[in-house]
Amino acid sequence: MDKNYSLYYIKRNVIRITLLIVILCLVLGYFSIMERTSGTIRVVFPPAATSSNMYPSSKIKINCSTWRKPLHNVSALSSQITLAPDRFLYPGLIFGPNNQIIGLFQSIYVAIRLNRTLVVPRFGTHYTEGEIQSVPDYQRIDVDHLCSFVSCISIEGFHKKCNGSMDVVFQAMLSKMRDVKKFQRDTKMHIIMNEEYKLSDYFVGNSLQSSEKRTNKANIPFYPCCNNKTSFNWLSSNQQVIRRTFNTTASCALFASAYQPLTLMSKGQIAIPLDKNYTKVRQIKDDRLYMAIINSVRRPKCITQLADAYIDANIGTDEFVAVHWRYDTDDWLRVFRNQKKYELCEVITNITSEDVARAIINNLPLLHDKNAMHSRNISAAVSVYIATPPSLKEFKLEIFDHLENLDSRIKKVPLDLDVYLSKSVFNKCWNSTGWVSLPDILSLIEMEIMRKSKYFFYSYESTWSDNIRPLRWTRSEGKIQRLFEASILDLSKTVMKKRIKRNRLLHLKK
Ligand SMILES: *[C@@H]1O[C@H](CO)[C@@H](O)[C@H](O)[C@H]1NC(C)=O
Ligand SMILES: *[C@@H]1O[C@H](CO)[C@@H](O)[C@H](O)[C@H]1NC(C)=O
Ligand SMILES: *[C@@H]1O[C@H](CO)[C@@H](O)[C@H](O)[C@H]1NC(C)=O
Ligand SMILES: *[C@@H]1O[C@H](CO)[C@@H](O)[C@H](O)[C@H]1NC(C)=O
Ligand SMILES: *[C@@H]1O[C@H](CO)[C@@H](O)[C@H](O)[C@H]1NC(C)=O
Ligand SMILES: *[C@@H]1O[C@H](CO)[C@@H](O)[C@H](O)[C@H]1NC(C)=O
Ligand SMILES: *[C@@H]1O[C@H](CO)[C@@H](O)[C@H](O)[C@H]1NC(C)=O
Ligand SMILES: *[C@@H]1O[C@H](CO)[C@@H](O)[C@H](O)[C@H]1NC(C)=O
Ligand SMILES: *[C@@H]1O[C@H](CO)[C@@H](O)[C@H](O)[C@H]1NC(C)=O
Ligand SMILES: *[C@@H]1O[C@H](CO)[C@@H](O)[C@H](O)[C@H]1NC(C)=O
Repeated sequence: MDKNYSLYYIKRNVIRITLLIVILCLVLGYFSIMERTSGTIRVVFPPAATSSNMYPSSKIKINCSTWRKPLHNVSALSSQITLAPDRFLYPGLIFGPNNQIIGLFQSIYVAIRLNRTLVVPRFGTHYTEGEIQSVPDYQRIDVDHLCSFVSCISIEGFHKKCNGSMDVVFQAMLSKMRDVKKFQRDTKMHIIMNEEYKLSDYFVGNSLQSSEKRTNKANIPFYPCCNNKTSFNWLSSNQQVIRRTFNTTASCALFASAYQPLTLMSKGQIAIPLDKNYTKVRQIKDDRLYMAIINSVRRPKCITQLADAYIDANIGTDEFVAVHWRYDTDDWLRVFRNQKKYELCEVITNITSEDVARAIINNLPLLHDKNAMHSRNISAAVSVYIATPPSLKEFKLEIFDHLENLDSRIKKVPLDLDVYLSKSVFNKCWNSTGWVSLPDILSLIEMEIMRKSKYFFYSYESTWSDNIRPLRWTRSEGKIQRLFEASILDLSKTVMKKRIKRNRLLHLKK
């Protein structure tokens, strides 16, 4: 080869490679700047190429794109119930994650009865996780599912339409000042408050009205909830009453501290969507509407997909048993002791892990119905999944030990959910899409596992259990059938009482 030519050849390639390196550096630099500037406002999503993952032992595909905030405009979605587009209700949610969901049910009901577009609100983490953090809508609920039921608007849309401030407050329940501050932070919208009430954490009555001395704004209309100590269930579900109670033409309403102001409850009911052919919303019975509302609030799609993948990889069938034992000392017992429900608390502290295991075995139809067992092949094991608050992990393991000792057909789901989740394939999805709380993700997936189980032992006096029960039904031959459920507390209490009685008799005989 000609010497000059080869030199030319090398030169040309050096230039090419240098150019390539320069371009590469520019691109990388650009991405790193984007990441840094997006530290607080999450704008940067990973490239679409990483959007699909397979978990090795599951056939179900995990698509990271379902973990991202949906980019479409929720106000533009067409919904089954259409509400006035120029008046709004922002649900100011309080307490734990599942109380927030109940608060959302109640807010949707009030929004429909007042004919105000629902603002899809922000949620909060559970206080047992440490300082409460604000959780975006798509990390708690399936926003599309909700907004295909009822007219919605995003917080950003609400902010824009309302020029950055709310102009009326409906006090759902007695509100704490720190909660009102959270509603302001979450919406980046302002409510004017009297200076003196900023000192105390409680406010009732007129304290949310503006102080004219400090601003030129007129008083904000304020509709107080109740003057009594307890502010639960004070508001009738009757639509005339609701319209009379919050009778205003002001556009931008805060529904402050919405946990359970209404007399409506989901207990013991089944959540079914409205028929497509319904005529007038005003003619739908209150209970019926409430059940359709409960059906409209579902967990995010990525969560249900992950629950499916877990069940598929570790259980392999929907024919499994799910147990929720809610009764921990730091949270549940503390709350119920404060409410002076001492007998209930004593029953719970008396119940042992063995009592719970016996309660499950004694009452699982599968183990006692010869036909059911035969058709399933009796030698096959029955998988059990137990959900508890994290502090009850030891108690949970004890229940499993007793279950397996008492009946050899019972087996624990082999891989714990938290271990399963720590596999990096899934981590990548929520890490790259800015999910706020891993305990939240765990809790939501466990709720889906409970919902999908064939047999569910739920916890009485737990909103976590309450929010699963109405969704556990199937349609078979045109009929709606509730799936098996039983209160694990009542059943364990029976076992415990019998045990104590037997021990007393033994003691007397000696
Ligand atoms: C992931 O989901 C998005 C939106 O649902 C969809 O557009 C995309 O095609 C999916 N990707 C794969 C690989 O399934
Ligand atoms: C969203 O949709 C509503 C209703 O169609 C429209 O008024 C609004 O301008 C849209 N917002 C954006 C950001 O596109
Ligand atoms: C709400 O008001 C609008 C008019 O702004 C009306 O078209 C709609 O039917 C009303 N919806 C309900 C549920 O009352
Ligand atoms: C917001 O400001 C615009 C323009 O000043 C006005 O037309 C509109 O009525 C205001 N909206 C509210 C809810 O006050
Ligand atoms: C307070 O409670 C009593 C008894 O339950 C009831 O009669 C009264 O109407 C309540 N007052 C308010 C302002 O809600
Ligand atoms: C709301 O108030 C107006 C004026 O005070 C009154 O005419 C109307 O009947 C009230 N509406 C309801 C539903 O109470
Ligand atoms: C709506 O359809 C259901 C069956 O899907 C039927 O039972 C019901 O009577 C219908 N209601 C009206 C108002 O037509
Ligand atoms: C709890 O256990 C103690 C001791 O066995 C017994 O005396 C008491 O009656 C039990 N309490 C309840 C509420 O079951
Ligand atoms: C039941 O399962 C056992 C072990 O898996 C198998 O050997 C047996 O053939 C099965 N019996 C029926 C009736 O399917
Ligand atoms: C996800 O984030 C957590 C905490 O920020 C970190 O410990 C973990 O290693 C991350 N996982 C992946 C796969 O990036």
